[in-house]
Amino acid sequence: MASVDIHCDSITKRFGGTEVVIPFSVTLAAGQTTALVGPSGCGKSTILRMIAGLDTPDSGTVALGAEPPRTVARKGALAMAFQDPSLLPWRSARANIALGAELARKPVGDVDELIDLVGLGGFADHRPGELSGGMRQRVAIARSLISEPDVLLLDEPFGAVDAMTRRRLNEDLPPLWRSRGATVVLVTHSVQEAVLLSDRVLVLSPRPARVVADIPIALTGTRDSKLVQTAEFAALSKEIFAVLEDSI
Ligand SMILES: Nc1ncnc2c1ncn2[C@@H]1O[C@H](COP(=O)(O)OP(=O)(O)OP(=O)(O)O)[C@@H](O)[C@H]1O
Ligand SMILES: [Mg+2]
Repeated sequence: MASVDIHCDSITKRFGGTEVVIPFSVTLAAGQTTALVGPSGCGKSTILRMIAGLDTPDSGTVALGAEPPRTVARKGALAMAFQDPSLLPWRSARANIALGAELARKPVGDVDELIDLVGLGGFADHRPGELSGGMRQRVAIARSLISEPDVLLLDEPFGAVDAMTRRRLNEDLPPLWRSRGATVVLVTHSVQEAVLLSDRVLVLSPRPARVVADIPIALTGTRDSKLVQTAEFAALSKEIFAVLEDSI
């Protein structure tokens, strides 16, 4: 299994006259899950798209391991799930999930196992148009996992998922990507989710995005709903909320 770290070296991005990302540098260690939290419009998705190679920085570089994102993506070692999942409307949920492996030129493993894991049992043959928004998001999550990527980029992947399912996914999915040694970047608006799922939380300022706090999440217990009730967990969440409040 490859171990891939992520380097953003002074990347910048402007749209028209608006500077969205000013020189932004960060190194994300291989095998770690890092959450990006910050106010709406601060540039989180823009940063993630540059890490994915979907957008090119105006200046600076992104390297995954020693390679540019597009090279890693071509090898099938990078996958993403974004809030607005782009699924093929004519393919069933099962076939959309399998696509993740097909595009990565990897064997299509046990799709049904993943379908069960994301709670879509019984909907495998439904097309995207016959699924709810939260279900479509879960198809996209399963599609991102099936290729067993070294780099996994998740942009508010649970935004439309109901609270109970979200809680279950928060418990069931991270062990999967951790056991595979994936390097994960997770954008989320939920501070609790950021703390629960991550090894590190980067709090970003309003646009243009700047790291205002870099908080290691060294929680020892099992990452489940019981951990959320501990004083340690509450202290970390409070710290992140305080930085977010200060930065606005
Ligand atoms: N393709 C684009 N063209 C013009 N402006 C853009 C484009 N993409 C993003 N922006 C602008 O860049 C800024 C940052 O957008 P981005 O989507 O990165 O924010 P975000 O932090 O992901 O916000 P949210 O939490 O609401 O998803 C916004 O002001 C947005 O309007
Ligand atoms: Mg966004």
